[in-house]
Amino acid sequence: MATWLSSCTISLLLLLISLQQSPLHASDTLTSNQQLSGNQKLISRDGNFALGFFQPAGSNGRWYIGIWYNKIPEQTIVWVANREKPVSDPVSSSLTISDDGNFILLANHSKSPLWSTNIKNNTAASSTVAVLLGNGNLLVRHESNASAVLWQSFDDFTDTWLPGNKLSRNKKTGVIKRMISWKDRGDPAPGLFSIQLDPNGSKQYILQWNSSEVYWTTGNWTNNGFSGVPEMSPVNPYPSSRFLFQFVDNDEEAYFTYNIKNDALIFTRTIIDVSGLFQTLVWAEAQQAWANSFTKPKAKCSVYGVCGEYSKCRENAASPCSCLKGFSENHPNNWKLDDQTAGCRRNIPLQCANNGSMKAKHDRFYAIDSVKLPDNAHITDATNVHDCELICLNNCSCLAYSHNGTCLVWHNHLMNLQDNIDTSSDSIFIRVAASELSNSGNKKLWLIGIIIGGFTVLSFGVAILYFLHRRRAIINGLNHDNGSLISFKYSNLQLLTRNFSEVLGAGSFGSVFKGVVSDTTAVAVKKLEGFHQGEKQFRAEVSTLGNIHHINLIRLLGFCSEGAKRLLVYEYMPNGSLDKHLFGSSSTTLSWKIRYQIAAGIAKGLAYLHEECRDCIIHCDIKPENILLDDSFVPKVADFGLAKLLEASMRGTVGYLAPEWISGEAITTKADVFSYGMMLFEIISGRRNLEHKETTMETFFPMLVARKLLEGEVQALLGEGLINGVNERELERACKVACWCVQGNESSRPTMGEIVKILEGVIDVGMPPVPRYLEVLCEGSENAKFFSYEAAK
Ligand SMILES: *[C@@H]1O[C@H](CO)[C@@H](O)[C@H](O)[C@H]1NC(C)=O
Ligand SMILES: *[C@@H]1O[C@H](CO)[C@@H](O)[C@H](O)[C@H]1NC(C)=O
Ligand SMILES: *[C@@H]1O[C@H](CO)[C@@H](O)[C@H](O)[C@H]1NC(C)=O
Ligand SMILES: *[C@@H]1O[C@H](CO)[C@@H](O)[C@H](O)[C@H]1NC(C)=O
Ligand SMILES: *[C@@H]1O[C@H](CO)[C@@H](O)[C@H](O)[C@H]1NC(C)=O
Ligand SMILES: *[C@@H]1O[C@H](CO)[C@@H](O)[C@H](O)[C@H]1NC(C)=O
Ligand SMILES: *[C@@H]1O[C@H](CO)[C@@H](O)[C@H](O)[C@H]1NC(C)=O
Ligand SMILES: *[C@@H]1O[C@H](CO)[C@@H](O)[C@H](O)[C@H]1NC(C)=O
Ligand SMILES: *[C@@H]1O[C@H](CO)[C@@H](O)[C@H](O)[C@H]1NC(C)=O
Repeated sequence: MATWLSSCTISLLLLLISLQQSPLHASDTLTSNQQLSGNQKLISRDGNFALGFFQPAGSNGRWYIGIWYNKIPEQTIVWVANREKPVSDPVSSSLTISDDGNFILLANHSKSPLWSTNIKNNTAASSTVAVLLGNGNLLVRHESNASAVLWQSFDDFTDTWLPGNKLSRNKKTGVIKRMISWKDRGDPAPGLFSIQLDPNGSKQYILQWNSSEVYWTTGNWTNNGFSGVPEMSPVNPYPSSRFLFQFVDNDEEAYFTYNIKNDALIFTRTIIDVSGLFQTLVWAEAQQAWANSFTKPKAKCSVYGVCGEYSKCRENAASPCSCLKGFSENHPNNWKLDDQTAGCRRNIPLQCANNGSMKAKHDRFYAIDSVKLPDNAHITDATNVHDCELICLNNCSCLAYSHNGTCLVWHNHLMNLQDNIDTSSDSIFIRVAASELSNSGNKKLWLIGIIIGGFTVLSFGVAILYFLHRRRAIINGLNHDNGSLISFKYSNLQLLTRNFSEVLGAGSFGSVFKGVVSDTTAVAVKKLEGFHQGEKQFRAEVSTLGNIHHINLIRLLGFCSEGAKRLLVYEYMPNGSLDKHLFGSSSTTLSWKIRYQIAAGIAKGLAYLHEECRDCIIHCDIKPENILLDDSFVPKVADFGLAKLLEASMRGTVGYLAPEWISGEAITTKADVFSYGMMLFEIISGRRNLEHKETTMETFFPMLVARKLLEGEVQALLGEGLINGVNERELERACKVACWCVQGNESSRPTMGEIVKILEGVIDVGMPPVPRYLEVLCEGSENAKFFSYEAAK
């Protein structure tokens, strides 16, 4: 009995002790007699944020103290305490309030802190607590006095700037708050990129690489925004901004801060990413993913060192960075995670560096043309290319040279090489070990040997080889993303299309035929009509189009230019054009979800054409016939770039035309926005806007939408069969966007980029006014013709 009693007492004691040590059941406060370890956490009172031990993805056995979003399934860290000093075991480590009133991290049962808030002379150490607030801020303060704050995580920036926090410069102490990127996606240690207020005193934030190179600035603060960030102060009424901005500059300090108008959108963060981009991200509940609301700089290649060493950057490419010939990716895993800053390394060491300059002759150079040269060049006095090469060859630290009248050489580092710049005629010569180049030379010799060896079976063999090669080239070209266009022979295309026997459609620039390359690969061949350009110009334009790659743009695979014949070869889309699915009598009415995805996809494709291609491309003829669908109904915009190619003065289709086509004003990308809006009405309704012979103001769908929107009952607009599965919020968003797009005044129309964000729910949109232009058109009896179905055809 006694033993039972004593063991019972011991258990009770143990229970009490453990209760005393871990009473942290979802509390937001840690008091001085408590500690937190293992998977225990503090949770803010509203449940939005949590603080505890975490392990970044892929960081084997490295644990950190951090704050993250408690309600978001994807681990998203907003603050890290011990950025550079991970612990290996969270169970034997603990967070606690020390006797001197600091919030500290103890590792491995050790007594001395691995990390501390470093509060000096805390006179109320025993009544000090740590509290995690609902805005993501961790306070260390006196227990009974909420305003006696001794330390806060908001003052200790890592890579994240939460709404309400201030990135400041203190004029009295000279302390400048700085956000520093993570080292890589799995390591919160300070990385290379940072943002802070200009230490020189101007009212602008600067983005820096390695605390030295400034690669982007916000521009000075003017009355309602930074001069380099025009989108902050929208002149247009449509995006009722979700953010409230404030820049404060007084005797004590200067800082910028932002807040969210609607508390429901608390999940917004601004970061300096491991790839050097400064971004504001918003949690998109529907997609369960972070969506970009703001990204700077816009040109990714302008981020200093974005591709690291020995690689080159190509703006607008699907993956902008690639290693130079003779080099391979450093940390390929980081490359895959969209962080190429680790750059590349040599495949074969330079002979020179290896063993003194005597072996210098074993190094060679190869040229890369049309580049933007890196800027840290040394100028030497060599007067010709040959001397320039020798100067570089004879110095083991010289990595590259360029000669354009002046001899430039690069030592130690080779970064920020930008590739494929049309405007530059500069070439750079890259130093590699001779064996790097002779290897491929040997391969060539070997190939030549084989070819010569096969000479005996020449006439027959070569014909077969040629045929196989062509066929393989076509298939390879079609399957691989190698960026280069195939130049077809007309006779080849005749073969592929069985002499142009299967017509897929008759577009505005000529008819389209189906071609069959192999059992699994088909192409669409477009015979251009009304063509006036010379061959050279045609090839130039076509190669520009061939460089445009986007999931929502139809891909140009090749072309043919023979005599007066001009043909374009595109990827084949098994589901045909959008009009067949929207207006066809077939039973395959597209679901709301798919229609909404199609609308968003088209907007993305057009945004790419308008805003991201090197030369902005205005499509000029947006309509359902020019939207193709792949086998999973991903929309692809077709026929872009042809208006320019064919030097068409006026293109477009009645019913989708913006007023500026008729008034003769300059055509901008906003003309496409108008046509997109008209088409969006059709995607919403599943009917032609001009369906009936006598469409009137009462039955004209865009007008109906504009009015019903104001009355708040857009649902009533959709016919049976379409109403199923409609998401009300998406429907309202789509209707609003469509109405904003067809405003008569082009500056009232949103850009395609903004449309993408509105449809994704990343930015809000205000209530559109009834489009005056359409109203006027409807009212004028003369204009009634414009709406007759005949005219529309
Ligand atoms: C904790 O202990 C482990 C092994 O005992 C050691 O590898 C690690 O470096 C220690 N960590 C700290 C922060 O002292
Ligand atoms: C803290 O206290 C020490 C000694 O009491 C004093 O010398 C020091 O100036 C104080 N520091 C601050 C920051 O008040
Ligand atoms: C609470 O702390 C603030 C700031 O230290 C101080 O000004 C205030 O007097 C304190 N209030 C009480 C009731 O002690
Ligand atoms: C700040 O001043 C220094 C020295 O005048 C200058 O080199 C630097 O470029 C300035 N920084 C900015 C961001 O203007
Ligand atoms: C910003 O303001 C500073 C003076 O405060 C001025 O020297 C600088 O040129 C301005 N920068 C820009 C981009 O206007
Ligand atoms: C960053 O700058 C420091 C000196 O300021 C230098 O030692 C270091 O090598 C630089 N980092 C890189 C990646 O170039
Ligand atoms: C460098 O060259 C010398 C003589 O040619 C040779 O003995 C030595 O091993 C070489 N060292 C390396 C690192 O290749
Ligand atoms: C190579 O060039 C660097 C940079 O100009 C220079 O510091 C170094 O002395 C040169 N080395 C030789 C061997 O000439
Ligand atoms: C050669 O390049 C240098 C540096 O980029 C430039 O200053 C110079 O004007 C160029 N010379 C010619 C002839 O293009």
